[in-house]
Amino acid sequence: MKNYTSINDIDNINAWIEEAKEIKQEPLKNKELGKNKTIGLLFFNSSLRTRLSTQKAALNLGLDPIVMNVSGDAWGIEFGDGTIMNGNTAEHIKEAAQVVSQYCNIIAVRAFPTLTDKEKDESEQVLTAFTKHASVPIVSMESATGHPLQGLTDAITISENSTKKKPKVVLSWAPHIKALPHAVANSFTQAMQKMDVEFVIANPKGYNLNPEITKNTPIYHNQEEAFKDADFVYTKNWSSYETYGENLGGNEDWLITKDKIGAAKFMHCLPVRRNVVVEDAVLDSENSLVIEQANNRTFAAQLVLKKILMQEA
Ligand code: CP
Repeated sequence: MKNYTSINDIDNINAWIEEAKEIKQEPLKNKELGKNKTIGLLFFNSSLRTRLSTQKAALNLGLDPIVMNVSGDAWGIEFGDGTIMNGNTAEHIKEAAQVVSQYCNIIAVRAFPTLTDKEKDESEQVLTAFTKHASVPIVSMESATGHPLQGLTDAITISENSTKKKPKVVLSWAPHIKALPHAVANSFTQAMQKMDVEFVIANPKGYNLNPEITKNTPIYHNQEEAFKDADFVYTKNWSSYETYGENLGGNEDWLITKDKIGAAKFMHCLPVRRNVVVEDAVLDSENSLVIEQANNRTFAAQLVLKKILMQEA
């Protein structure tokens, strides 16, 4: 694994989960591994958890993190091939990626989708350009179509909290006021497909995820039916894939409530809009795992960085 840009980069999810749990028990054990090495964290979009947990993971490994808000602070970066750069972009990714590679031993990148240009988003323009032009390993901190650090985190959290050999896990769409990316839902789906769980997706009609991601995962358009006997309800809003990037409106009755999820554990990647996506009574209950998930972001990132550092050593 040179880069970590997709859940598909995980060769054995159970082994990865066990190693992450070991890291969590003794987070400073590999403090020497990243000594005198630098990781660059490049953010084209906002973040709280990813930014802080990836820095924390780097520090636990002895890496020096450099963090940059690329969109606000760097020159506008051009990604097009052969573009006449007489517009707003002042620097091409071909130079930018090579330059950052001279300062950093690992580069981590966050770049969200346009949600207006499906082809461009699915080409993963930013992530692909970094993997092509940088000379050091690349880690996705959420791209147009995936959030593999979050997906790994969620797999760890489910493993830690599962009381059954094969728990039932439901990924449920929930309402939102904005049109949101598919990245978290995609990576969660891919992670669950690798685990020994009964996994189903619940979403209103018009919100089916990319069939190349969902594959043969059962999809329910009736939330109550999907939630029957659920052990974990993972909630996320995403915009329509079919009517690409649109919030189709309505479906407010898909709000996650205590009555609906019963005794199931509640999960969400955060940030979450209270009483739009999920009611207070769920988030404030003992069944909510959202804070624990956020804690596990550090150990998922630390596992990925450790694997990259060990192969580079
Ligand atoms: N879950 C997650 O990626 O959070 P941030 O957007 O705050 O990094």
